[in-house]
Amino acid sequence: MSKILLAGGAGYIGSHTAVELLNAGYEVVTADNYSNSCPEALKRVEKITGKQIKAYELDIKDIKALENVFEENDIDSVIHFAGLKAVGESVEKPVLYYRNNIDTTLSLLECMEKYKVRNIIFSSSATVYGEENPVPYTEQMKRGTCTNPYGWTKVMMEQILEDAAKAQKELSVVLLRYFNPIGAHPSGMIGEDPQGIPNNLMPFVAQVAVGRREKLTIFGKDYDTPDGTCRRDYIHVVDLAKGHVKAIEYAQKNKGTEVFNLGTGTPYSVAEIVDTFERVNEMKINHVYGERRAGDLPESYANADKALEILGWKTEKTLEDMCRDTWNWQKNNPNGYK
Ligand code: NAD
Ligand code: WQD
Repeated sequence: MSKILLAGGAGYIGSHTAVELLNAGYEVVTADNYSNSCPEALKRVEKITGKQIKAYELDIKDIKALENVFEENDIDSVIHFAGLKAVGESVEKPVLYYRNNIDTTLSLLECMEKYKVRNIIFSSSATVYGEENPVPYTEQMKRGTCTNPYGWTKVMMEQILEDAAKAQKELSVVLLRYFNPIGAHPSGMIGEDPQGIPNNLMPFVAQVAVGRREKLTIFGKDYDTPDGTCRRDYIHVVDLAKGHVKAIEYAQKNKGTEVFNLGTGTPYSVAEIVDTFERVNEMKINHVYGERRAGDLPESYANADKALEILGWKTEKTLEDMCRDTWNWQKNNPNGYK
């Protein structure tokens, strides 16, 4: 079975994707500098699957170190998760974000060309739809105007990958636009482990639940939405991971660039997330309402038809599953992997 290189494979989405790839019979090689993850996540993946991962510690920007991975392994396809992803930090440190996210992409493309690796799946984001496009987002919409450097790195990386596929006819590029991944593997052994104060809603809720944070602030309740709080397309990380297995199968059979939304198509509000987490896990989440957060859109959700039609993929898990599995991970690992 073919060998897949997961760049940034020890992270939240990479580790869950590793489980699904190993279960589907692929061999997995990871390359990660552990800047936002740890090797323990990969050990847990091995425990869950009973299979082994070949893990390299390196910075993907370091082309010599990366070439060694291609030299030592007969890589069939690359999945590019390796990026910095904190929106607020990207506003404070734009150069760091552009350097890291764009250089990792260029290094991977250069190595792929040298070693004749023809398939790359890229972790893009719904953020590329920007501010102008109406919901639900469809893949043929033009990329929009982003509100932060993180978002712009995704727009730029999509462009770079598309241009590479135009120039190299044998290349297959699959751009996966993730919506809001939450949840954890049902084993409770792997999950999201943010460093410092979580930026994203679900890890914050989970840390309030486990007593690491006193209360959640819900950012804004005067949006033009049914309950006044923002609505997002939350997707279970295991569903998302399975989407990557389908994308690999697609890339192996096709050439050129294709874009897919990976979302459920159903938006839920922040208040609904809190309510569902409380109900499913039989607990209270201490919360208050605060000001709107700069840059937040009232609504973001996918039209998920294309992934179903072409990849034969759709989400299977419910919001209840997402809330239950998040808590199962957090309560078993109150301090994450530490
Ligand atoms: P994550 O931070 O958990 O995983 C990213 C991994 O990449 C980490 O293990 C990190 O150590 C590694 N990494 C970063 N820079 C590297 C470098 N230069 N060399 C080697 N390794 C490097 O994040 P995640 O949530 O798993 O996200 C994976 C990808 O999906 C990212 O590109 C992210 O932008 C994208 N994405 C995430 C979300 C989300 O909400 N989590 C949504 C849309 C898109
Ligand atoms: C969700 C909702 C907040 C925290 C971000 C990136 C996006 C993508 C996914 C990578 C919003 C509200 C949050 C809190 C809150 N990442 N919230 N209190 O902003 O939709 O998307 O992550 O590509 O690019 O922008 O996700 O989880 O931060 O917020 O009320 O403490 O929860 O206002 O409405 P977002 P999020």
